Amino acid sequence: MADAEIIDGKAFAEKLRFRIATATEIIKEQYNKSPGLAVVLVGEDPASEVYVRNKKKQTIECGMTSFEHKLTNEVSQTELLDLIQKLNADDRVDGILVQLPLPEHIDPQAVLDAINPEKDVDGFHVVNAGKLATGGDALVPCTPLGCLLMLKDYFGDLSGKNAVVVGRSNIVGKPMAALLTRESCTVTIAHSRTKDLPSVCKSADILIAAVGKAEMVRGDWVNNETVVIDVGINRIPAPERGEGKMRLVGDVNFEEVKQNAKAITPVPGGVGPMTIAVLLRNTIQAACQRRGWDLPNL
Ligand code: GUN
Repeated sequence: MADAEIIDGKAFAEKLRFRIATATEIIKEQYNKSPGLAVVLVGEDPASEVYVRNKKKQTIECGMTSFEHKLTNEVSQTELLDLIQKLNADDRVDGILVQLPLPEHIDPQAVLDAINPEKDVDGFHVVNAGKLATGGDALVPCTPLGCLLMLKDYFGDLSGKNAVVVGRSNIVGKPMAALLTRESCTVTIAHSRTKDLPSVCKSADILIAAVGKAEMVRGDWVNNETVVIDVGINRIPAPERGEGKMRLVGDVNFEEVKQNAKAITPVPGGVGPMTIAVLLRNTIQAACQRRGWDLPNL
């Protein structure tokens, strides 16, 4: 059998950013304003610094306004909450993202709960989680929404598909299951306690791997109709590249699974590039919903 089709997340994200830039132009013409995204970074985690730099670059490239707030590791929770209140009150700011993880002395839930749900472009606030679960007009977490957009692009209609989501986190697994339910899939949420996980996965038309375990999904966990979306980003030693070198792998054993599945997203170059593009999409949605603007086609 031929190898699985590779779903190119990088190319898909580029197309989405183009649509976002066009939507931003339409908004500027109609309302003489550009949507604004505020990103808050606490401390000096190198990976977070890279993400925040990329967010700023892509925000500006899409014609939106970027507000960046870098705070030291020593900032108190009260000071951070004060900044959130200022951003909530600032009319130029349509979206607020606090980069995670936060330092140990700060309670991330207290911070996420302080963000105005109308500006919660991460979709982590309980109001948005509740709206997603009950069918309202929610801001949806970026990674699962990116996965859904790729699946809809691939399949068109998802109704009646058997979807298996491996992982039940608030950031990916649970919102992913809610989105697929909304698309009329038959959804199974599997996790570390699931009995006979390989055969549950093998029944899937759509398999979402979001557990954070390097290369856990093996070649014989899929069938030749399974479309596999790999959300994992894991760093593992790569001695073949030299001493101390690392490489990125997903939660799926790519080399094995691509021989058996129908289609698969690679790591890197699959889900990852979609996340920031969806963040910008959410910022436009938040701006239009809060300000009563017409939402351009995205
Ligand atoms: N850190 C890693 N991924 C994310 C994300 O999607 N949102 C936020 N706020 N922080 C992150």
